[in-house]
Amino acid sequence: MKRIVILISGRGSNMQAMVEAGLPVVAVISNRADAAGLAYAAGRGIATAVVPHRDYTTREAFDAALAQAVDGYRPDLVVLAGFMRILTDSFVRRYQGHLLNIHPSLLPAFPGLETHARALAAGVKLHGCSVHFVTAELDHGPIVIQAAVPVLPHDDEAKLAARVLAQEHRIYPQAARWFLDGKLVIEGGVVRVEGDHPQQLYAP
Ligand code: GRF
Repeated sequence: MKRIVILISGRGSNMQAMVEAGLPVVAVISNRADAAGLAYAAGRGIATAVVPHRDYTTREAFDAALAQAVDGYRPDLVVLAGFMRILTDSFVRRYQGHLLNIHPSLLPAFPGLETHARALAAGVKLHGCSVHFVTAELDHGPIVIQAAVPVLPHDDEAKLAARVLAQEHRIYPQAARWFLDGKLVIEGGVVRVEGDHPQQLYAP
């Protein structure tokens, strides 16, 4: 049986989508004790742990403690799902090739925060989300799957975020499933899925 460890900082709706998709989530770890997603995970009988970033004076020390907690669950795949800490290069290197993130934009557009507001301000007509392997550069890394949604004339940030989030909940479990099934191949920084599987989704 393959094992997934998910790192969250808050709501945890992407984590919930993975659990509900029947993926083998063995533990949920948060840097915040008040992350709402922890209660959901505990309620489903999944192990939970908190590694409070405030307890550590440096990023390196926090990441070392986090890695120790993660490794205790012997994961095949580590999933960042709304985990709001920038990870050190050494943490990223340790899990390289086994570490996925979801970002609420069509990368490489809008890396970083406030993606929905920035998409609205830029006037783009398509927006969306991307699942990618994590590399040292923030919100870069080989793209596994993307979903696109329309940006509509009367959208505000909340409406657009909700439209994107619904697609996040579809593509992230799909990407994790492909990974666990050994279907993802990275060649020259480009991800291919073995078999006839579309790596994009458009939700009009
Ligand atoms: C999602 O929009 C995700 O793309 C971003 O942070 C948000 C987390 O939401 N990285 P949730 O905690 O999974 O509900």
